Amino acid sequence: MSSSPVFSRWMASQKPRANNMRDAPSFYRNLEEALDVRRKCHGLYTLFENTWTKGPTTDFCSNDSLAFGASGRLRKAFEEELARNPDVQLGSGGSRLLDGNYRYIEAVEQEIADFHGVEAALIVGSGCDGNYAILEGIPRPGDAIIYDELAHASIRDGMSRSLAGIKIPFAHNDVDAFREALISVWDSQPLIRNGQKCVLVVVESFYSMDGDASPLKELVLAAKEIFPKGNAQFVVDEAHSMGVVGERGLGYVAALGLNTEIAIKTHTFSKAFGSIGGVILGNRIVKNALVNFSRSTVFTSAPAFHQVAAIRAGYTLMPQPETEQGRDNIQHLAKRFFEKITEHPIWKEASSRNIISIPLAECWQERDLHSQLIPICTRERYGHWLAFHLDARKYSVFSVSFPIVPKGGARLRVVIHADHTEAQIDGLIAAVCEWAEEMTEIERGTGNRGKVPWAAQQVYSTD
Ligand SMILES: Cc1ncc(COP(=O)(O)O)c(C=O)c1O
Repeated sequence: MSSSPVFSRWMASQKPRANNMRDAPSFYRNLEEALDVRRKCHGLYTLFENTWTKGPTTDFCSNDSLAFGASGRLRKAFEEELARNPDVQLGSGGSRLLDGNYRYIEAVEQEIADFHGVEAALIVGSGCDGNYAILEGIPRPGDAIIYDELAHASIRDGMSRSLAGIKIPFAHNDVDAFREALISVWDSQPLIRNGQKCVLVVVESFYSMDGDASPLKELVLAAKEIFPKGNAQFVVDEAHSMGVVGERGLGYVAALGLNTEIAIKTHTFSKAFGSIGGVILGNRIVKNALVNFSRSTVFTSAPAFHQVAAIRAGYTLMPQPETEQGRDNIQHLAKRFFEKITEHPIWKEASSRNIISIPLAECWQERDLHSQLIPICTRERYGHWLAFHLDARKYSVFSVSFPIVPKGGARLRVVIHADHTEAQIDGLIAAVCEWAEEMTEIERGTGNRGKVPWAAQQVYSTD
């Protein structure tokens, strides 16, 4: 079997280049040197040729989890939406505050707010823009932000532009650490203690690289107990739960029945919705504050008609029976994945050797809701090798390493889609375990293998 052109190209891209650029302008040489730092540990990200949407591999990597993109359903609904609105011009014409506000976007925002049972919605260019906007516009001077340490980069970047003076991370999903952070603010900030200033708690519903869910109910209870005056409020980023869980795909907050407890939610349309954009949900005061105070909404053009039309098209698909079945299928397949992989004969030894581990597979039976994101953790260098192996077996799963995840946190991020079948899940498990078996034999020194696994040899031999 010859190795995949995707990985051969990736391998070629990891060769250091700056050494051959002694006579080149320093502007380019310095950039190439910086890229070489990544190349030296095979950590340079390259733009992969897409083999999963139309090619020979099964897509276990994209965020098209409801298969709106792959099935063509979104495109059809989008084209119908365009046809219904032949007179709306494409561009918004300017910033939302000036000449970029138009009737269509306002109508869609109201529909979205009604769908989610909130007062107001603000459509923004992307989920990242949504997080920037909230963190730039909502905290006032003297407020504090408490956030989960694994919060998305856009939350961190947004915080760096925020007016809040105090920003405290708490250990990931750790309710005790969260309580400690709240108590430290209570102890040190008299204006927050007496209810004049506020605490903004920022968490995600499903964490994008870990696939686990926030213990939101417990966090809300702790915040209410420590700040009974109601001046601790929550922002929940529902990027990965939107569309996937909850009645009509309303998301995690709704699935937990916490709608009235959460001041602000961000949803992205780039994941399960299969398009692009974001929406911030809250009340009218929140929307007004965002429009006035967030530099990332003030100094950019309003989302264009075609973007908003695709969002509206996505919402028409949300309550359809096919989408409901897809949501159920994701839950079913996630359980099947955990059950079958942990029953595999190699699982115990491979996981005790840390060749593979799946934190979400621990006590999976105790969870009511599963996310579509299942990270398979492995050793730092092994991540690429497992990805090569899966690609050779025609499964596309990306390996992620630093700086997307912390150093030492290499993993493959499996994304289950609504249109996957049991056979595809079983095939993926078989391929993962085939590789784990090979690695176990290599580590044990049994069998007739070299030190480098078969699929990696294929890729390296084309180098
Ligand atoms: C938790 C979280 N928030 C926000 C975003 C950004 O979304 P978008 O791609 O719409 O900018 C992502 C995407 O990776 C995410 O995982």
